[in-house]
Amino acid sequence: MAIGAALAITTVIYVVGHPTAMFTILTGAQFGDEGKGKVIDLLAENYDVVVRFQGGDNAGHTVVVGDKTYKLHLVPSGAILGARLLIGPGVVVNPKVLYDEVNVLKSEGIKVDLGIDAKTSIIMPYHIELDKLRENARSQKIGTTNRGIGFAYVDKFSREEIQMQDLTDPLLLEEKLKEIAPAKEKAISDMGGDPSIVRDRGLLKEYLDIGEKLKDNVTDVSLEINLALEDERNVLAEGAQGAFLDIIHGTQKFVTSSFTTAGSACANLGVGPVMVDNVVGVIKAYITRVGEGPMPTELKDEIGLKMREKGGEYGTTTGRARRCGWFDAVLGLKSVFLNGYTEMALTKLDVLTGLDPIKICVAYEIGGETIDYPPESTSDFARCKPLYEDMPGWTEDITNAKSYDDLPENARSYVERLEDLLGVDISAVSVGPARDQTIFREE
Ligand code: GDP
Ligand code: IMO
Ligand code: MG
Repeated sequence: MAIGAALAITTVIYVVGHPTAMFTILTGAQFGDEGKGKVIDLLAENYDVVVRFQGGDNAGHTVVVGDKTYKLHLVPSGAILGARLLIGPGVVVNPKVLYDEVNVLKSEGIKVDLGIDAKTSIIMPYHIELDKLRENARSQKIGTTNRGIGFAYVDKFSREEIQMQDLTDPLLLEEKLKEIAPAKEKAISDMGGDPSIVRDRGLLKEYLDIGEKLKDNVTDVSLEINLALEDERNVLAEGAQGAFLDIIHGTQKFVTSSFTTAGSACANLGVGPVMVDNVVGVIKAYITRVGEGPMPTELKDEIGLKMREKGGEYGTTTGRARRCGWFDAVLGLKSVFLNGYTEMALTKLDVLTGLDPIKICVAYEIGGETIDYPPESTSDFARCKPLYEDMPGWTEDITNAKSYDDLPENARSYVERLEDLLGVDISAVSVGPARDQTIFREE
């Protein structure tokens, strides 16, 4: 078939199958904590539904509104603007954390219209215990958030998960727990832990109680999203973590246990890839990482400390100090490839004010060779030395800049250089945590 004919068919299918509503996927382009919460809160104004598609309460997404700061771990970041909030079946949910988070928001006067997919995996206390025991036993630590994420995903893939819908079915939950408990007790004992955590705490009653509290929120997320799009309501898929924490494409083993790139949104949510309109990447003007694992541009000097203090680089979930370093365009480009970004939001440009020069890593040196794409092997990646290009800094306070032209010339040159290196438009630049500290570069 001629390419022209194939294209014509594709177009017909596209037009028929693709309603005018917008389906946007947003993901983190580095090692997490890029400022996704802030950007989602801003975008949420244009979306009717905001949905989390992977990860769990290892995520910590910050939304700042006036003098209030919301740190969201499971509730999607569209909460403050009143969107329909959904948690997809690919998320692992600690229902108690979720219930408490919803109540805190409600007590602040926020209306939380939440749906949780019936098939969402539940993080049980034994997952958290196993996560802690395993991490303690590792000679080379990952630095997990101790939220039981990895072990909950293990149970999903080994088909021994407890799902959200099971918490509303006493007989089924009892049967499942009976089946699962001996293996969990043994695993905990084998790792030197206290197996009584599995039974003695009355898991059945505890989880039926929480199921009762959340039962009105149980829904079919795939169906809701597809109907919303058909109904011309816009849907925003909120990624957690970032590209290099991805279980496949990240820096194994120093990664999380879910698929963090944009492609995963469709698979996890049950939405066809043809429905995707935009893929937004959120990227920090420098780079941070919390937990272990290589990061070639890490600065263990005064500049790194300055970035940490000025950028408030302490974990939203664990409070751990984040490691900071210069912008890594080699990783940045890989992230663009992994996600297929149609546009990007650059955050925390204000943190670089006062640094001169500002360095951008444009290649790595490894074993005497220069490479411009990260190697597949994590141990090779750990040996990569950054090769930098220097950009002139600026000293002017940019936290009140309202338009792109308000930025000093050197700040604009920095943004444009990143845009060149990544090959993607940077359509928003963030210069502070607040909503109005954002510059939209609409042409
Ligand atoms: P997320 O996990 O990607 O949502 O990011 P986090 O919320 O964990 O971390 C980002 C932190 O930076 C939060 O404390 C935000 O309030 C803050 N933040 C976001 N954008 C900016 C910005 O442009 N400048 C500064 N100084 N802080 C920002
Ligand atoms: P958001 O969504 C930054 C890191 C942990 C650890 C590794 C594995 O806020 O960007 P896990 O508990 O997931 O098994 O830990 O992943 N990590 C994050 N780092 N931001 C996050 O989420 C993270 N979620 C997990 O620090 O190195
Ligand atoms: Mg975070």
